Amino acid sequence: MHIHPLILPALAAVAHAASYSGDLRPQIHFSPPSNFMNDPNGLVYDSKKGIYHLYYQYNPSQTVAGNQHWGHATSSDLYHWTNQPIALSGDKPEEYIFSGSAVIDSNNTSGFFPHQDDGVVAIFTVDTPTLETQNIAYSRDGGYTFTKYANNPVIDIGSKQFRDPQVVWHPETQQWVMTLAYAQDLVIGFYTSPNLRDWTHASNYTQKGLPGAQFECPNLVKFSVDRAVSKETSKYVLFISVNPGAPLGGSGTFYVVGNFNGTHFTSEVAHETLLDFSGDNYAAQWYSGIPENEPPVSIGWASNWDYTAEVPTGPLEGWRSAMTLPKTHTLTKVNGAWVVTHSPFHELSTIKGRQLVSKNLKSGNVQTNFSGVPSKAVYFNVTLKDIHDAHPTGQVNFNFTSSSGEYLDGGLSLDKGSFWINRAGTHLFTIKDNGNYTSSFNTTIPSFGKGTFSFSGVIDRSVLEVFLGEERTQIGTLTFFPTSPLDTLTVSAEGLTNQTSVSVKAWGLQSGWNSTTGSKRFRA
Ligand SMILES: *[C@@H]1O[C@H](CO)[C@@H](O)[C@H](O)[C@H]1NC(C)=O
Ligand SMILES: *[C@@H]1O[C@H](CO)[C@@H](O)[C@H](O)[C@H]1NC(C)=O
Ligand SMILES: *[C@@H]1O[C@H](CO)[C@@H](O)[C@H](O)[C@H]1NC(C)=O
Ligand SMILES: *[C@@H]1O[C@H](CO)[C@@H](O)[C@H](O)[C@H]1NC(C)=O
Ligand SMILES: *[C@@H]1O[C@H](CO)[C@@H](O)[C@H](O)[C@H]1NC(C)=O
Ligand SMILES: *[C@@H]1O[C@H](CO)[C@@H](O)[C@H](O)[C@H]1NC(C)=O
Ligand SMILES: *[C@@H]1O[C@H](CO)[C@@H](O)[C@H](O)[C@H]1NC(C)=O
Ligand SMILES: *[C@@H]1O[C@H](CO)[C@@H](O)[C@H](O)[C@H]1NC(C)=O
Ligand SMILES: *[C@@H]1O[C@H](CO)[C@@H](O)[C@H](O)[C@H]1NC(C)=O
Ligand SMILES: *[C@@H]1O[C@H](CO)[C@@H](O)[C@H](O)[C@H]1NC(C)=O
Ligand SMILES: *[C@@H]1O[C@H](CO)[C@@H](O)[C@H](O)[C@H]1NC(C)=O
Repeated sequence: MHIHPLILPALAAVAHAASYSGDLRPQIHFSPPSNFMNDPNGLVYDSKKGIYHLYYQYNPSQTVAGNQHWGHATSSDLYHWTNQPIALSGDKPEEYIFSGSAVIDSNNTSGFFPHQDDGVVAIFTVDTPTLETQNIAYSRDGGYTFTKYANNPVIDIGSKQFRDPQVVWHPETQQWVMTLAYAQDLVIGFYTSPNLRDWTHASNYTQKGLPGAQFECPNLVKFSVDRAVSKETSKYVLFISVNPGAPLGGSGTFYVVGNFNGTHFTSEVAHETLLDFSGDNYAAQWYSGIPENEPPVSIGWASNWDYTAEVPTGPLEGWRSAMTLPKTHTLTKVNGAWVVTHSPFHELSTIKGRQLVSKNLKSGNVQTNFSGVPSKAVYFNVTLKDIHDAHPTGQVNFNFTSSSGEYLDGGLSLDKGSFWINRAGTHLFTIKDNGNYTSSFNTTIPSFGKGTFSFSGVIDRSVLEVFLGEERTQIGTLTFFPTSPLDTLTVSAEGLTNQTSVSVKAWGLQSGWNSTTGSKRFRA
């Protein structure tokens, strides 16, 4: 499984020649040039240059996990990506670079950057057959090439289950804070450092009752809070990914809302919240370097460890796994409870194409065949008005169909107060191929406040993401694999109370890849 460093340039050449034209290849969501990708790593925004870096867990030699490196891509809008050479590799056989984060050390706290204020430091786990330690590497060229720190590791507690450091700057105490997982102890650890080199254990946090066999990829994220919602101006949210054994099967992510004082996280909620009501959203990471006055931005891994090594994109197209859409988030309150909201980054504005449909209906359906949209990626938004408050009835469904008779459907049940999505109608990979590849997911809609409700979604060849509610407080992320492309959208309404109206809008989305290679500006 190990790859000798000398053959890496050859692998980079393979990456260069990668094709993004496969029928299952997402065009809006990031996926690796070839082979296997999992967790997003090192998400850092270089605000001076306007460049977003995406590093990721990468096996450059096979379409299954193993041989972990940090792959790398850059973007100025999080939708149009340029693949870059691998950023971090192990130094010896059976030494792998596991997940971690990256920060811009603008004050040169690390001392690595004598003549610049835009140096990048990556903080990551090095995994060997017996040990996981935390290590750092610095980049003086804006995050393209890294030098490993001579005195690595920076944290070694002699554990094999100790990983995924996420580092943020805590201005109040003028120090760096690392959040990481004592994976199988189901504990989150916090460490602090003045300089990214010397770390002191600050505290441990456990979310009692959380399901799952391992905690992974924790993120501590500061949210500004609207004064209309709370007297406090900010809160901290701790995101914890668990695998296996998440409540919807396999991998899943929870969050806990509370506060952080520089050393200790304290929960201020009765229980954790599940991030996504569907099966394919894991290990999300939040960008560092986003300006203070802008909302936090995240990207997650749109897959599930239960079946990620078996999905058909491996044998058919030579790659496995996509990231979720980039999203912006806010923290708000719904019915008195804290919730994180989720919106596609910049409302998809840099890739939004021609409007396919804009219609109102009270019953019946609207249909649009979008086979003329080259990306086969579509954004749709369905908005209901004048829902009967006391007795909402009826249903509004969406259905993506293909000429092969396959379909991906879902919808809103006003009677049940629920929303569902279902991939059983796509046939290239089904629950018969893997018993944990659950067909359908659903969630309860807490209320149809003010008589309106909307849902929206992005379909992108083999990934669907739905956003529920005007404030988009619920999301569902689902991979699916049809034998022939889904190219027609039907939205139907039935049984609504007669004053309720439904507005249906859909737009084609433009591919984020240039032609088919995604590597035009590949840096040799
Ligand atoms: C895509 O092509 C356009 C126009 O040729 C160019 O400006 C842009 O830099 C390219 N983007 C990438 C990611 O290669
Ligand atoms: C950065 O830190 C190093 C080591 O402390 C120091 O030599 C250098 O002068 C510093 N550079 C700046 C711009 O502060
Ligand atoms: C940089 O230094 C300034 C001035 O001391 C401080 O306010 C700021 O929080 C520091 N930021 C980082 C990221 O080190
Ligand atoms: C923090 O948790 C880890 C993992 O369970 C444990 O090994 C360590 O002793 C704890 N540290 C403290 C100070 O409690
Ligand atoms: C942070 O919270 C912990 C636990 O509540 C407390 O022991 C510690 O003194 C607090 N630190 C500061 C700076 O308030
Ligand atoms: C499927 O899930 C069950 C329990 O939920 C687990 O025991 C089994 O290992 C999983 N299978 C795969 C292939 O992950
Ligand atoms: C979607 O279309 C398929 C195939 O025509 C059909 O079996 C399924 O019931 C439809 N779903 C909805 C929600 O209408
Ligand atoms: C959509 O239109 C294309 C081109 O006319 C056609 O080949 C395809 O079968 C249509 N899709 C469906 C589901 O009818
Ligand atoms: C919702 O999902 C649960 C399993 O998570 C299932 O038992 C239930 O039947 C589903 N409900 C609907 C309305 O699909
Ligand atoms: C649907 O579109 C409306 C109008 O742009 C917007 O306010 C609403 O938030 C969207 N709903 C969802 C769930 O994205
Ligand atoms: C339907 O609308 C009419 C007026 O537009 C109203 O008189 C009637 O009560 C409504 N029926 C229901 C079931 O809401």
